[in-house]
This record gives sequence, C-alpha cells and structure tokens, in this order.
Amino acid sequence: MLDHMEIREATLEDIPEITALFRDTIRTVNRQHYSEKQVEIWSSGADDIDKWKDRISNLYFIVAEVHQQIVGFAYLKNGNYLDGLFVHKDFQRQTIASKLLRIMESRVSINGFDMIKSDVSITALDFFDSHFYEVEKKQKKSFKGMVFENYIVYKEL
Ligand SMILES: CC(C)(COP(=O)(O)OP(=O)(O)OC[C@H]1O[C@@H](n2cnc3c(N)ncnc32)[C@H](O)[C@@H]1OP(=O)(O)O)[C@@H](O)C(=O)NCCC(=O)NCCS
Repeated sequence: MLDHMEIREATLEDIPEITALFRDTIRTVNRQHYSEKQVEIWSSGADDIDKWKDRISNLYFIVAEVHQQIVGFAYLKNGNYLDGLFVHKDFQRQTIASKLLRIMESRVSINGFDMIKSDVSITALDFFDSHFYEVEKKQKKSFKGMVFENYIVYKEL
C-alpha cells in the first residue's frame, strides 16, 4: 500500500486533514505516555486554525500521502528546528516518519546547518534514538497551563 506514498508541500486546503490526524494521533498514540488531561489540552491545539495557517504559509511544511489520504506530516522552523512530526494512528510503524525525517534532514543541510534539533514527546523518543539522535536534556514544557515532559534532541548531519 505504501508503494504509492508521495511527499509534497502542504497547502491551506490540507488543514482539516492535518488537524484531524494531529488530534487522533495524540488521543491514541501519545495517550500511552500522557494523562487524559494532558492529551485533551495538547490535542486541542488542532482547533487553532490560524496557527496551522501560519505554519503552512511560513514554515517548510510537508505531508505524506497514500491514495490521496494524508498519513503523516512534518514542519521545520528557523531552518533547522523540527517543530512537528506526526503519523496517522492507523499508519504507525510503516516507515512514514523515517521518510519525512530524511527529507527534513536534507532540507536542514540545504539551509546551511550542520545540526538538526527538535523537542520530542516521550512517545517519539525511541524513534529518534533509532535515527541516532542524542538527548541534550529532559525538560518540562508548559502549554495552556499544563506541564508536559519531553526531550530536546539533536543530530549532527
Ligand atoms: C514517533 C512517530 C512519528 C514515528 O512514526 P512511524 O512512522 O511509526 O515511525 P517509523 O515507522 O518510521 O519507525 C522507524 C523506526 O523507529 C523506531 N520506532 C518508531 N516508533 C517506535 C516506538 N513506538 N517504539 C519503539 N521504536 C519505535 C523503530 O526502530 C522503527 O523501526 P521498526 O518499525 O522497523 O522497528 C509516530 O509514532 C507518531 O506519530 N507518534 C505520535 C506523535 C509524536 O509524538 N510525534 C513526535 C513529535 S512531538
């Protein structure tokens, strides 16, 4: 099925699918590592449509598509900061994130940086470890009054 996967830049028309994917993945996949309340607050970020418009318009934002369904997305901020990487809950462990990450790493190199950085969820830590990212530190990040534990990671390219 993934033979037909295409990766392209996101457009504003993709917002409903991107935000649904974001919400569903947090509620199912990230739910394993975060409380119900944390998941509720984090996934409510899907409703901030202006923020998604801004990300798509101003950042390097790519989507992976299979048979015209968006199955993953990623976006890059400030040239070398991976700010988001999400895969559809029904398409986990099919190498979609690995493919998106490879493109992001190439983009970072094209942008003239020799290091990519991100801060990643507990859920994603094993994925980044398997791609040879180092943990700089564990941190607590505040979002809408709720504290989330995550990790700052980096990789030299
Ligand atoms: C983390 C995430 C992006 C990985 O996406 P994915 O498409 O399933 O990842 P891949 O299939 O490319 O994984 C490649 C390798 O990474 C490792 N890996 C990925 N997910 C893993 C997990 N949950 N546990 C352990 N290893 C994992 C494995 O080595 C895997 O290879 P394998 O399947 O042959 O064992 C996905 O699980 C996700 O959307 N998580 C929720 C959102 C999130 O937390 N995003 C992080 C930014 S905040």
